[in-house]
Amino acid sequence: MTDAPRKILVTSALPYANGSIHLGHMLEHIQTDIWVRFQKMRGEHCIYVCADDAHGTAIMLKAEETGITPEEQIARVQAEHERDFHGFLIRYDHYHSTHSPENRVLAEQVYTLNRDAGYILEKEITQLYDPVKGMFLADRFVRGTCPKCGAEDQYGDNCEVCSATYTPAELIKPYSTISGATPEERQTTQLFFDLPRFENMLREWLDSDALQPSVANKLREWVDAGLQPWDISREAPYFGFEIPGWPGKYFYVWMDAPVGYMASFRHYCDKHGLDFDEYWREGSTTELHHFIGKDIVNFHGLFWPAMLEGAGLRKPTALHVHGFVTVNGAKMSKSRGTFIKASTYLEHLDPEYLRYYFAAKLGKGVDDFDLNLEDFVLRVNADLVGKVVNIASRTGNFVHKFGGRLPAELDNEALVREVQAAAPRIAALYEAREFGKAIRDIMMLADQANQYINDQAPWKLAKEDGNEAKVLAVCASALNVFRLLVLYLKPVMPALAEKTEAFLRIPPLSWRDADTLLRDHEIERFSAMISRVDNKQVDAMLAASKDTTAAAEPPAPAKKAKKTPAQNTAVTDSTPDTISIDDFLRVKLRVARIVKAAHVDGADKLLQLTLDLGDETRNVFAGIKARYAPEDIEGRLTVVVANLAPRKMKFGMSEGMVLAAGPGGEDIFLLSPDSGAQPGMEVR
Ligand code: 2FM
Ligand code: ZN
Repeated sequence: MTDAPRKILVTSALPYANGSIHLGHMLEHIQTDIWVRFQKMRGEHCIYVCADDAHGTAIMLKAEETGITPEEQIARVQAEHERDFHGFLIRYDHYHSTHSPENRVLAEQVYTLNRDAGYILEKEITQLYDPVKGMFLADRFVRGTCPKCGAEDQYGDNCEVCSATYTPAELIKPYSTISGATPEERQTTQLFFDLPRFENMLREWLDSDALQPSVANKLREWVDAGLQPWDISREAPYFGFEIPGWPGKYFYVWMDAPVGYMASFRHYCDKHGLDFDEYWREGSTTELHHFIGKDIVNFHGLFWPAMLEGAGLRKPTALHVHGFVTVNGAKMSKSRGTFIKASTYLEHLDPEYLRYYFAAKLGKGVDDFDLNLEDFVLRVNADLVGKVVNIASRTGNFVHKFGGRLPAELDNEALVREVQAAAPRIAALYEAREFGKAIRDIMMLADQANQYINDQAPWKLAKEDGNEAKVLAVCASALNVFRLLVLYLKPVMPALAEKTEAFLRIPPLSWRDADTLLRDHEIERFSAMISRVDNKQVDAMLAASKDTTAAAEPPAPAKKAKKTPAQNTAVTDSTPDTISIDDFLRVKLRVARIVKAAHVDGADKLLQLTLDLGDETRNVFAGIKARYAPEDIEGRLTVVVANLAPRKMKFGMSEGMVLAAGPGGEDIFLLSPDSGAQPGMEVR
């Protein structure tokens, strides 16, 4: 590279220090990590920082509830967070905390610079006070009806239905989520950041290319609706930084959280002798990229650039906003077992599978991301095992059989050149965060390589004498393609790349290595690099993710029942297997009302049932058609296994299992509990 490397500072949103990392966080941190690893492979000077977001009432109350100090609370959680991210191969250059000396200094600086420039207002306001708990209520701890759209049970600072922002005092019928008491109104003086003064600057910023068009549009709507001064102070008791000159008042967590990006970087600079100001001064030529979720665009797209501007600092180069993670098409749910913690995933599955699946479906848009677990298993097995690693596993052994050295000559120079020529195209896709398109490109090249290996069939050639040179030349072509594909996948699959580097006896691959090929080069014996994912691993992960508060002891490892063919109705069978009481306690049996039953086109055994479980409706396919006509069972109660992982059947998704008894066919009986049972009731 002849140009000087770009200087790039990258962040992921700071996770709160009162909860575990889940797959929703992982989408963002994996997306960021892939982009950062790509930049580093390209030789750019790219620094990736993050931190725990350690302040606020929620963390204070959580510590209180656990009987520890907030400092102990945040230290524990941070260790857990760092371990989980590390497990997913996320490699920050530094991971910090917003409750740090650097952040105190920087938050005070950002505040005083804004104050001295006249952007901080003092205002006497009416605030809500919890008379039972004896404290002013932070926005999140007041809920009530949205004053703009009338949606019930909304947070105190913003409405999840219409996205309006407001003050808790504006809520209709407010209540304290801490004590349930109706809050009282009290007068206090608070500090406000004078956001309306930044309207012109913000409009310009929204017109720049720093934001995805849909994000800019959303933010423009808020600006059009009229910007309001933003309350940046909170009353004691509060876990945070006291505001200079205002004893007993603290910076609101969202004031010092984004400053935490700076603080983490400050720490890194101090340790590595980097010039912090070069990155943050107004007019800096370095790049600043924030990866965030769509729920926090107001903080990053309005308040943060305005506070930076007010303090005479640079604004972000870009915000990269992603959508929410859904699992099997629905919001992550604890009762369905789809609220999957990072640590639970790691107990059952390889982190690179998820990195790959996320990458394969990610684009630069803000659409929600569906983790379809069935598709996940199919895709990992088909692409990684069946396409990429397959190239090496079908050729690697022959090289060793014939001396362990790749020859100088390639049998299919044209194929290898074509794969090399893809490097700039794939690089442009990574740069633009079009990871899904990059992966599609890589997999098409893998298909070509596999086709070539099929056509040459080195396993056949190797059986006959005199073919040694030809076999080696075929394998050299295939393994050169393999090396290039792994290079292109390296931002996503760094562990696979490391194994490949060891196998091929090469130094760590960087992007410019796509220009070179391996000729006349000794390699190691091939050994397995990746294993197939088994549905059982996914099932076990879902089972372990279930809300198991009912079980007194940790459950024993799930024993898999023998699979009966496409069977979604449990018919008593005669398998002699026994299960432990722990296994049994993991099965959630609930009463359900069959609100609708229908024939399924093309299925001779199944009925499609719509079940009312009290708080939700489920679609279930049951093999009871031989015994029941739909009209016979509509309105009846039955018992359903409520925590069975949803299964995709030929006719659609089945979200549970109806319990029945009998030998089968016309002698199946649904169990209808006595009257008095209500949909949703637990059965034991
Ligand atoms: O929404 C959240 O999880 C916040 N803790 C994100 C903070 S990002 C940054 F601004 F600090
Ligand atoms: Zn609303």
